[in-house]
Amino acid sequence: MKKGEKLYEGKAKIIYATDDPNLVIQYFKDEATAFDGKKKGIIENKGVVNNRISEALFNMLTENGVHTHMVERLNDREMLVKKLNIIMVEMIGRNIAAGSLAKRIGLEEGTVLPRPIVETYYKSDALGDPMLCDEHIFMMELATPAQLETMRETTRKVNRLLTDFFAARKLRLVDFKVEYGVHNGEVLLGDEICPDTCRLWDMDTDEKMDKDRFRRDLGKIEETYAEVARRVCGEI
Ligand code: TMP
Ligand code: ASP
Repeated sequence: MKKGEKLYEGKAKIIYATDDPNLVIQYFKDEATAFDGKKKGIIENKGVVNNRISEALFNMLTENGVHTHMVERLNDREMLVKKLNIIMVEMIGRNIAAGSLAKRIGLEEGTVLPRPIVETYYKSDALGDPMLCDEHIFMMELATPAQLETMRETTRKVNRLLTDFFAARKLRLVDFKVEYGVHNGEVLLGDEICPDTCRLWDMDTDEKMDKDRFRRDLGKIEETYAEVARRVCGEI
């Protein structure tokens, strides 16, 4: 597989072309941002750890019938993935109130939701990722009703699978964000799944084991990412 030109650079990853027009390489950076890029920093080794964690989670999801973009992890920081036409809707699954949900509806952080919920947001840094309802999504033609239904049902299934997987590793899945794209007409789970994109609390201590350590300046950031990798992948 030959690495080609840089196609796109985001806040946490870079996408490179390959000699196969159906495949691209996603390169995981150590850069971290929060609050729509207003807070910036480096989390040492984050790219390596998130690449490994994403690989393990995509493998588990694939084994359980979820269609993802991952082909294989190539090396420490690169993953070969199917090229997607990204659907510009971020899907957020939640089990416990935290972050923007706690703020929006005045729920105390940590309140267990009566049932899991899935929310939809516009993937737009310029607008600060505003929440969208279905009518907005269809009006803007961001996704068809069938695509949205697939994304919602897949996100619910991903939530069930990730919740059990993390629970077996003493981690509570509070909430998470996933993205989808279209490849040869099929909606595939894309992006990455890692402590940047999930809230994970230690089952015994409720300690935050995710990017909130960076967002809220809680310290022990690198150690925490390494610990999540150890629980998810074993020693790396
Ligand atoms: P929120 O509570 O800030 O809406 O975040 C919900 C979940 O989504 C949390 O696990 C962090 C993740 N997330 C991202 O991965 N990227 C984002 O841009 C945002 C806002 C949240
Ligand atoms: N990644 C997003 C940003 O940089 C938000 C976040 O994860 O808090 O703004």
